[in-house]
Amino acid sequence: MLKKTSIAAAVAAASALILIAGGCAATSTGKAETAKPAQDTAKPAPDTAKPKAVDYTAMTPTALAEYLIFESGSYDLNQPTQEGTNGRARLTQDEIQKACTLKKSEELSDKAREKVMALAAASIRYPEGGIKLGDWKKGRQLAWSGFGFRTAHNPDKHGPGEAGGNCYNCHQLATDRTGGTIGPSLTDYGKIRGSSPEMLKYTYDIIYNANATFPCTNMPRNGANGILNDAQIADIMAYLFDPESPVNKH
Ligand code: HEC
Repeated sequence: MLKKTSIAAAVAAASALILIAGGCAATSTGKAETAKPAQDTAKPAPDTAKPKAVDYTAMTPTALAEYLIFESGSYDLNQPTQEGTNGRARLTQDEIQKACTLKKSEELSDKAREKVMALAAASIRYPEGGIKLGDWKKGRQLAWSGFGFRTAHNPDKHGPGEAGGNCYNCHQLATDRTGGTIGPSLTDYGKIRGSSPEMLKYTYDIIYNANATFPCTNMPRNGANGILNDAQIADIMAYLFDPESPVNKH
């Protein structure tokens, strides 16, 4: 078992990593009791009791991130994830991620861009009966929830709640709460753009797999990766388009 003190250090280290990774992950509640020993006995968790003394200030951001993930013991990469694998499996890139990974000073080639857009477009599935708007109130809950699909360090207890869309961490959505700035503001989304079938499809595609529209975007692939189901996407779309939604009221 991990000692309480080393868990506290791990929480601090993990928070640091979240900041380095772009600051868009929701904050952990940091409950030490939820830490469990590694599931996979073939790959034991690193010895967290005696972390190697390192000088964080002398490290590049990449070296620090790798140190925190692989060596410091902050992360339990064998811990099960909500999609049914584990944190270590998440480190294996899929085709889109491979095509988007660039070496230093390299730019995305036209070929890679086309490949990513085609792979992403092929992943998009449309609901039976077409794209519809659901309940904006439920959509508001989902858009402002960062719950679910976290991994490796104090992951959520998944039983009591559904995964959210985490939209607020990157987008300003309405004026009643403050959202993030990694993505463009979506305030007045429906008011400005209307809700033509083309606009609904444009938005659905972005929520489902934004790489079909913005290759190599930071935006998560909510539909393609099974984070949000059809009904949840419909609810979030209602939050963006419904004239009664706070997104369109101010
Ligand atoms: C990790 C950050 C991140 C999260 C989380 C995120 N997005 Fe985005 N989103 C972006 C970025 C960045 C863009 C702009 C495209 C680009 O340049 O990559 C974008 C673009 C969009 C656009 C197109 C905006 C336009 O002006 O046409 C929509 C719509 C959108 N996001 C909706 C959502 C919704 C709904 C959610 C939650 C289900 C969400 N996003 C979650 C980062 C994010």
